[in-house]
Amino acid sequence: MRLRLLLPVAFLSMIFSAALMANDNGPTVNPGTQIDQQSGLIKADGFSLVLAHCSACHSPSLITQNAMSRERWLQIIRWMQNTQKLWPLGDAEPVILDYLSTWYGPKTSARRPPLAPYLMPRD
Ligand code: HEC
Repeated sequence: MRLRLLLPVAFLSMIFSAALMANDNGPTVNPGTQIDQQSGLIKADGFSLVLAHCSACHSPSLITQNAMSRERWLQIIRWMQNTQKLWPLGDAEPVILDYLSTWYGPKTSARRPPLAPYLMPRD
């Protein structure tokens, strides 16, 4: 009798925790932050500029699957401008870089911690 109640509960909690884990690999999003359904981009300051400038040639998923510093984002933008006909971004550039480095910045949790001093090479 007990077991009949317990099994569905255990099953549901397994599904629930699997769903939570599956959700764990995106950028860390503050509670209340919305994702634009169509582009998959986080809706925050600069979102509409990024959508306008960065989804004309390729899927915005090239953005959402990346995690880079502001400097790296700028390098990618320069590379697209030099080789892929991306236009000058003008006043939008700093806003776009703020957005990219804030929401698609390097993932600190994905990095290994620094080596202990005794593991470092000797000079
Ligand atoms: C004029 C066309 C064009 C526009 C507009 C454009 N890109 Fe790209 N981008 C490209 C091309 C072409 C590639 C290479 C695509 C590929 O490898 O499939 C690319 C690749 C990328 C990559 C992957 C680079 C890599 O090394 O893996 C990222 C990230 C990216 N773009 C971000 C952006 C962002 C951010 C913007 C807005 C500022 C933007 N793109 C606007 C043409 C464009």
